[in-house]
Amino acid sequence: MMRMIATASAVLLISLGVFAQEGQLDALRGQVPLLEERTPEPLYDAENDDRRRSRAYPMQPPTIPHKIDNYQVDLNANRCMSCHSRQRVGETQAPMISVTHYMDRDGNFLAELSPRRYFCDQCHVPQTDAPLAVENRFVDIAEILRQRRETQE
Ligand code: HEC
Ligand code: HEC
Repeated sequence: MMRMIATASAVLLISLGVFAQEGQLDALRGQVPLLEERTPEPLYDAENDDRRRSRAYPMQPPTIPHKIDNYQVDLNANRCMSCHSRQRVGETQAPMISVTHYMDRDGNFLAELSPRRYFCDQCHVPQTDAPLAVENRFVDIAEILRQRRETQE
């Protein structure tokens, strides 16, 4: 049994190597051969224009329209909550985290931020001015319905 596994993994590794050399497997490496170092992408600027983006689907976590460099989010502090918590929004004018962030998984409301919503950047991400790697062909459902009504008329 062990020998079979060893042979199988050896075959797999060899074929992986071959594919990687042809640049077919690793989307991040692109066509660069395994033994060569890729020229890294330039660093792109995070969007910081305070303009909200519209959402692409219901319940999508909104993207972050500001920089979050060096914002501490760990056991000791949550920098995001210093602006976005219920208590602070009056002062900061940041949009309040929605009620779902105060709910546990059974739908009970908590007085404090729910632990499952503590690490904000698990769901919310800043945007950069990087060129799109893949084109986005998303169309909002409202637009699809509008087009359908037009063709039916
Ligand atoms: C200094 C205050 C401040 C801090 C700290 C802060 N924000 Fe914000 N945030 C704002 C304000 C104000 C807005 C409203 C848009 C704007 O002015 O940028 C906003 C907007 C947002 C939005 C967009 C909401 C929507 O409905 O479109 C998200 C998401 C967000 N912030 C997440 C975060 C996360 C995650 C962190 C921590 C990593 C964070 N923010 C830290 C002030 C802050
Ligand atoms: C598990 C994923 C998840 C985590 C973690 C999370 N959020 Fe959200 N957030 C969402 C989703 C999904 C929405 C949109 C639907 C909703 O309100 O529940 C949202 C909405 C928001 C909004 C917009 C509220 C509104 O009324 O439009 C803000 C601001 C926000 N989150 C900030 C935060 C901050 C700050 C944290 C960290 C303390 C955080 N979120 C953690 C998923 C998450």
